[in-house]
Amino acid sequence: MQGKFITFEGGEGTGKSTQIKLLAEYLQQHGKDVLLTKEPGGTDIGLELRKILLEGKVEKFDAVAETLMFFADRRIHMQQKVWPAMQNGQWVLSDRFADSTMVYQCYADNKGISYQDIMALYKFSVGNFKPDLTIILDIDPKVGLARSFKKAEGMLQKELRFESKALQWHERVRQGYLQIAQNEPERCVVLNADKSIADLHQDVITAIKEKFKI
Ligand code: TYD
Repeated sequence: MQGKFITFEGGEGTGKSTQIKLLAEYLQQHGKDVLLTKEPGGTDIGLELRKILLEGKVEKFDAVAETLMFFADRRIHMQQKVWPAMQNGQWVLSDRFADSTMVYQCYADNKGISYQDIMALYKFSVGNFKPDLTIILDIDPKVGLARSFKKAEGMLQKELRFESKALQWHERVRQGYLQIAQNEPERCVVLNADKSIADLHQDVITAIKEKFKI
């Protein structure tokens, strides 16, 4: 495929959405055709799944169903949006992708979903396709949560389900991402997110330049 697929990952309060927007602007200024998207909820149907997943209804079914739903969202996202955009040569930037499922449903949640389960579902729904680059924003959960709660003052209470878990759980999220980066150093770059927006943006650009020689 002609286009690129770049995913952003990280725990709460790492500044992912700000950084992904800044990167989109940067790439556009450098002549790239950019598509900004996210998981869950990158498509119309995905938005409905997102509501079910993030607004508490998910407590009504188990971790297997929850994991399948994240992959259903992903499959629809890839088929309807990401792959066609890549065929058209677009640079697709996604706020979260499959590493989120590995980290949240497997490493952090401890609800019986194994590494192998996630890998099998990945293969089934995405095949051998992988992001060209995954940028993992890393921060001490204490710092990330403090940022996140500040932002949350304006957020819907029901959307806060993922933010309100215990600190230990957030630490497992962090370690999960670091583990993935260690397993796949050719795909993943870990950036220290405990710095200013402008400084972190510079680090993102450096990673992009190194990877894509632009
Ligand atoms: P979102 O509101 O997009 O917030 P942010 O990315 O800023 O944290 O929330 C998405 C939430 O869904 C996030 O807490 C992680 C979770 N999630 C999973 O548990 N599994 C997944 O596969 C994905 C894509 C997200």
